[in-house]
Order: sequence, then C-alpha cells, then structure tokens
Amino acid sequence: MSAARPLFVALAVIALFSALWCTSAQAVKQEQPVELPPFKPTVRVSSLMTGFATGINSIRDALPDADDENRLHKISAWSDVIAELSNVHTRHRKKQAYIDMAANTGAIALEMGRTARAEIPDEDKLRTLFTKLDTSCATCHDSDDK
Ligand code: HEC
Repeated sequence: MSAARPLFVALAVIALFSALWCTSAQAVKQEQPVELPPFKPTVRVSSLMTGFATGINSIRDALPDADDENRLHKISAWSDVIAELSNVHTRHRKKQAYIDMAANTGAIALEMGRTARAEIPDEDKLRTLFTKLDTSCATCHDSDDK
C-alpha cells in the first residue's frame, strides 16, 4: 500500500467537511432577514393611472364576456394589479384624505380579486364591486384633495 493513501483520505475528508461548512454557512446567510430601506415611489402618479386604466378596462371587458373561459382569471389578476398599485399609490402623497381614497380603491380591488377566486364566484357581488371600484376612482378624481 502506498504512503499516499492516508494522505488522500485525509484530503478527501477535509474537502468533504469544507463543502459541508460552505453549504451550512450559506444556509445561515440566507436566513438572515434583509434590512430594506424605507419604500420610495419611483414613478409619476400619472403612470400608475395608466396601469389603473388598463386594469379597470380589462375587467370591464371580461366581466360580461361569458364565452371567455379565462374571464375569472383576468378579473382576479387585474383586480390584484389595481390593489397593489393602490398600495404603492398610498405612498405618493402625504395628505390623509388622499391616502384614504387611494387605500379605499385598493381595498375594493382586493375584495374583487378574492371574490373572483372563490370556488363558486358570486357574480352579483362581482358586478357590485366593479361599480364600487369605478366609483372609487371618480371619488378621488372629483375630490378637491386630489
Ligand atoms: C386617491 C386618488 C386617486 C384614485 C383613487 C384614482 N386616481 Fe386616477 N388620477 C389621480 C390623479 C391625482 C390624477 C392626475 C395625475 C397627474 O396627471 O399627475 C389621475 C389621473 C387619472 C387618469 C388620467 C391619466 C393621466 O395620465 O393623468 C386616468 C386614466 C386615471 N386617473 C384612472 C384611474 C382609475 C381607473 C382609477 C381607479 C381604479 C383611479 N384613477 C383612481 C388620482 C386618483
């Protein structure tokens, strides 16, 4: 037996433990919560509005389209987009009345998304929520607090 064999075994053991150590060190690193800076909007309000308009028009088209087998998916996805954009929208102004109106649109959109994803979606509720959503946009547009 050559003298190199124990050396080889020792090296293999070291390599194995190094690999294990690296893997576990990485796992620990991934578990550390990341410190994020405070949220800061990066685009203009009018760009959010373009997103809102695309979303609400897509829902308006999908809502009565019984032939579209993806209509509930579209309604739920666009409602969620409006909800999240509204969430961001609340960070664009510092006036409480404005923030409340932005949040209200978001809450209605969130409920609409959930309603569309229900096992047996309540179609009357979807229509009512759509009217409420549409009205919530106009409420802010017509407001002096805008
Ligand atoms: C909390 C207030 C608020 C809510 C809620 C709101 N908007 Fe707006 N919207 C604005 C403001 C402010 C402007 C003017 C933006 C600008 O030009 O800076 C605007 C403008 C718009 C415009 C004109 C486009 C443009 O480029 O300015 C559209 C379209 C629009 N909104 C759609 C919507 C839709 C659809 C909703 C509801 C899903 C909605 N908005 C909800 C505040 C709001």
